[in-house]
Amino acid sequence: MPGSDGCVAVAHPNIALVKYWGKRDEDLVLPCADSLSMTLDVFPTTTEIRLVDCQAQDVVIVDGAVDRGATARRITGFLDLVRERAGRSEAAVVATRNTVPVGAGLASSASGFAALALAAASAYGLPVEPVELSRLARRGSGSAARSIFGGFAIWHAGAPDAPDPDLASYAEPLAKTTLDLALVAALLETGPKPVSSREAMRRTVKTSPLFSDWLGMARGDCTVMREALARGDIATVGAIAERNALGMHQTMESAVPPVHYRTPASHRVLEEVHRMRAHGLQAWATMDAGPNVKVLCASDDAERVACVLRQLSGCVAVVARSGPGATLDKTVR
Ligand code: PMV
Repeated sequence: MPGSDGCVAVAHPNIALVKYWGKRDEDLVLPCADSLSMTLDVFPTTTEIRLVDCQAQDVVIVDGAVDRGATARRITGFLDLVRERAGRSEAAVVATRNTVPVGAGLASSASGFAALALAAASAYGLPVEPVELSRLARRGSGSAARSIFGGFAIWHAGAPDAPDPDLASYAEPLAKTTLDLALVAALLETGPKPVSSREAMRRTVKTSPLFSDWLGMARGDCTVMREALARGDIATVGAIAERNALGMHQTMESAVPPVHYRTPASHRVLEEVHRMRAHGLQAWATMDAGPNVKVLCASDDAERVACVLRQLSGCVAVVARSGPGATLDKTVR
C-alpha cells in the first residue's frame, strides 16, 4: 500500500523555452510569470524513499554517499512540508541518483524535486494526481513543477490576487504539437555553479534595470510560443526561445553584483549556432543557470547539429528528445 513503505520515483529534467526567472514569493515559490518547457528523455533522476519509525532524523544519500550539507537540508525541509500536510511524523531514508551533472544549469533540480515530490507524496500518503503534484514539486524547486509532465508543459504563475496563490500556481501539459523537436546539450563544464539560481534570481529581481522589460517580454513570449507550437512553426519557436534565454542572461549580467554564467566556451557555442543558421541549418540556442548551451532543432537535424558541436574543443554533445513525465517506478517493501 503506498503511504506505508518505500517508494521509487523517476523524473527527467526539462528545459524551458520561455524561462522562469524571478519569484514574487520566495516561501511559496511563486514566479513572476508563466514559463513553458520541454521535458527531456535523457539524464533521469531516480529517488527512493523509505519511512523509518525508529529514527529521529532523515538520512539523505546522494549518488551513493551520505550528504550532511545543503542538499540534505533542502531535502529535509521539503519532507517537513510533506509530513506537515500528511499529518505524519516518521523520518525517512532518501536515496537519490542523478545521471545529470548537478548544479551546472542542466536542470538537475527539476528532475530531482519532481522525483522527490512523487516518491515522498506516495510514501507519506498524499495525493499523487499530477497537477497537485506539480504544486508540491514547485515548493522544492520552481522548475520541478514542469518535470511532473512529459512533452511540453506550461507552469502558470497564477494571478497575484488569487484567493489561494498556492493553488493558482501549477503546471499542466500542453496539447500535442506536430513538431518533433530535439535539444542538443552542449556540455562544456559540469562543475557546480558559482552562484545558485535562487540567489541569482533574487539579485536580478532586486537590482537589474533590465528585469522589468524582460518580464514584460517573457509574458508575451509564452502566448506566442504556445501558438507557434500549436501550428508547428519551428522558426518562431526557435527564435522566441533563443531571444528569451539570451534576454534572461542579460538581466542577471546587469544585476548588482552581476551574475555571469556564460563563459568564453558558451559564447563559442552561441556563435557556432548562429553560423549553423547562416548556413541554412535551423538551430537556436537556449541556456539556463550555467555555462552549458542547449541547441533546439528539428529531431531529424539533431545528429547533424551534434556533429558540428563535437568539432568544438572540449564540447560533449548529447542529443535529447521529448521525454516522459515523472513516474512511480515500483513500491519497495
Ligand atoms: O527551479 P530553479 O530554482 O532551479 O530555477 C531554474 C531556472 C532556469 O532553469 C534558469 C529557467 C527555467 O525556467 O528552468
